[in-house]
Amino acid sequence: VMLKGKVAVVTGAAMGIGQATTKLFLQNGAKVALLDLNERAGKSVKKALDEEYGPEKTVFLQCNVESDKDVKDAFQTAVKTFKGIDIVCNNAGILNEPEWEKSVSINLTGVIRVGFVALEHMNKLTGGRGGVIVNTASLAGLAPRPVFPAYAATKHGVVGFTRSMAAASDALGYGIRFNALCPAGVQTNLFDAIKAQMGQFSDLYYLVEQSVQKGILDVSQVAEGALELATDETKNGEALILRYNEKKYAIFPTL
Ligand SMILES: NC(=O)c1ccc[n+]([C@@H]2O[C@H](COP(=O)([O-])OP(=O)(O)OC[C@H]3O[C@@H](n4cnc5c(N)ncnc54)[C@H](O)[C@@H]3O)[C@@H](O)[C@H]2O)c1
Repeated sequence: VMLKGKVAVVTGAAMGIGQATTKLFLQNGAKVALLDLNERAGKSVKKALDEEYGPEKTVFLQCNVESDKDVKDAFQTAVKTFKGIDIVCNNAGILNEPEWEKSVSINLTGVIRVGFVALEHMNKLTGGRGGVIVNTASLAGLAPRPVFPAYAATKHGVVGFTRSMAAASDALGYGIRFNALCPAGVQTNLFDAIKAQMGQFSDLYYLVEQSVQKGILDVSQVAEGALELATDETKNGEALILRYNEKKYAIFPTL
């Protein structure tokens, strides 16, 4: 139980990677606020978790990461319910090339919004107790992806924000670590829908198939990565690459 006494907030917690991360954190003794746009899925996950862990361990809060009010209200409620926050997993995301502005709004603007609201509550300089923020980027945040360029841009943005905030936090003494998860293909609804969401790039779908020929990650493996980034106090400003049968930290050029 590596997270005993810790409080986590997970966005996009109703499905996929966010749901798996929520479960792993609960198994490790944390309390978790599940934030998601999808109320039906969120309530149904909460019900299942109540049976396994007890109703006092989680709270579901409907929240669109595109909305400043939603995010601020959800964090207020999470802090009130669990007395503070130690870990934030910024995980909500979509892949939709035709709706690229929506993708930027959720995947990048949403991550920055949630990051800054989290900071208000966690910053040691303003009465918080410090902690860690784990942003779900993607391998598409480190390498070009002709199959979904706008998505890749949002994820490069997430990696840039994460590393920059890590350096700012270090320099200013926020007491908060910032790390990014960079998984390759993961078996989720988002992955299953890729072909239908590629728009003008769908002729390149064979490249997606090629990239997962060796295999595809399970959500539990990505959740383990999130736990590692959350608990390893030596990691700040890191990007953890997860591929089928492979785990390594990204090496960035020093400029
Ligand atoms: N599946 C993959 O292959 C893969 C690979 C690398 C990175 N990722 C990233 O992992 C994260 C999770 O994706 P997933 O594969 O688990 O997808 P998913 O579709 O299974 O789950 C995403 C969750 O986010 C929620 N969500 C969507 N928009 C939201 C919003 N505006 N506000 C709040 N919640 C919202 C959805 O309701 C859903 O519960 C995303 O950021 C995604 O880009 C996924």
